[in-house]
Amino acid sequence: MSTRLEAFVVAAPGLEPMVQAELVKLGVRPANVTHGGVNCSLTWPQLWAVHLKSRMATRVLVRVARFKADGFDTLTAGLARIDWSAWLPAGGVDVAASTDGKSKLFHTGAIAERVVAQIGRGEGTQQVLVRVQRDVVTVSIDATGPALHKRGYRGPAGKAPMRETLAAALLVASEWDVKKPLVDPFCGSGTIVIEAAMRARRIAPGRHRTFQFMQWPSFDAVAWERLVKGADSDVIERCPPLLAFDRDDGAVAATLANATTAGVAGQINAERRAASDLVLPSTAGWIVSNPPYGARVGGPDVRDLYDRFGDVLRERARGWHVALLASRDTPVTRLKLPLVPMLETTNGGIPVAVQSGTVPS
Ligand SMILES: C[S@@+](CC[C@H](N)C(=O)[O-])C[C@H]1O[C@@H](n2cnc3c(N)ncnc32)[C@H](O)[C@@H]1O
Repeated sequence: MSTRLEAFVVAAPGLEPMVQAELVKLGVRPANVTHGGVNCSLTWPQLWAVHLKSRMATRVLVRVARFKADGFDTLTAGLARIDWSAWLPAGGVDVAASTDGKSKLFHTGAIAERVVAQIGRGEGTQQVLVRVQRDVVTVSIDATGPALHKRGYRGPAGKAPMRETLAAALLVASEWDVKKPLVDPFCGSGTIVIEAAMRARRIAPGRHRTFQFMQWPSFDAVAWERLVKGADSDVIERCPPLLAFDRDDGAVAATLANATTAGVAGQINAERRAASDLVLPSTAGWIVSNPPYGARVGGPDVRDLYDRFGDVLRERARGWHVALLASRDTPVTRLKLPLVPMLETTNGGIPVAVQSGTVPS
């Protein structure tokens, strides 16, 4: 069993450099960033640590083989050379094949069939990805299972919730100082404040869920437990004030329920409050939010909302940093604040950008 794994850490568009920086912090070898993720070399413990600790990555694919194949004979021969002993769980596999249209192998259904025939099992939870590009076959295996944003703390979806990994990226892009207060005036299901609490308290985001690699013969449950214990011992109690407001009762209830599941209810103050009634702690901090941007929620009065919210911020939030996730048609200019676009990514398929700046004193 090889001690180093060739991995592709998948990231949402725009988040790749942030995920790379996170990997470096986890001690992963300098890796190259490409569209959609980061190529890197991982030890087994690093593969587990990325799952336990990364706040922004989407999933990890492990490359198990790359070979030339210009027909089904060479494909079958290449597949036969793969040592599956470290990878294959007891259940079956679910093969996803893709081709670039520039290769001799083009029938994805037939390629997938060959893989299943080679492995000898079909229909299961283990995803195997086979990609053919210019007659080169790359076989990867998904280490993650359900994507990493599924930390396990969020109940039934609220109004247009954002992915946990995107909330974590928004916090990084906002340059939030983890010792300073943070307020989300449009909290929805509470994703931003919950991610903030977990980060401030150094709670590992993958602490309470399972991963696909746990089904692999290579999984070392004792080493994993040791890793989790180590991560738990890093947790601190200290957390700055984290305030979550929403005008909707259901959103406040969802925030509290999700915060309880995430183990951070004690750090979050959630209450029903309209953005026009914003109250802030006396020490200036960060307002980080994903306000209605009109595309999914907010309705026709979204321009009035931004006019009013801008007035409120200019009156009551002098010196506060503001970072808002907004779509292209969000009328952020109506806030009349010096905000500049930072990170560009997508949320629920909609192109979005983080608009960030400081409210003039
Ligand atoms: C895009 S959602 C926020 C989603 C949130 N980031 C999450 O992860 O669930 C916007 C939220 O703003 C709330 N909202 C809309 N208008 C508001 C207002 N005037 N004051 C306070 N909350 C408002 C909605 O109820 C909704 O929950």
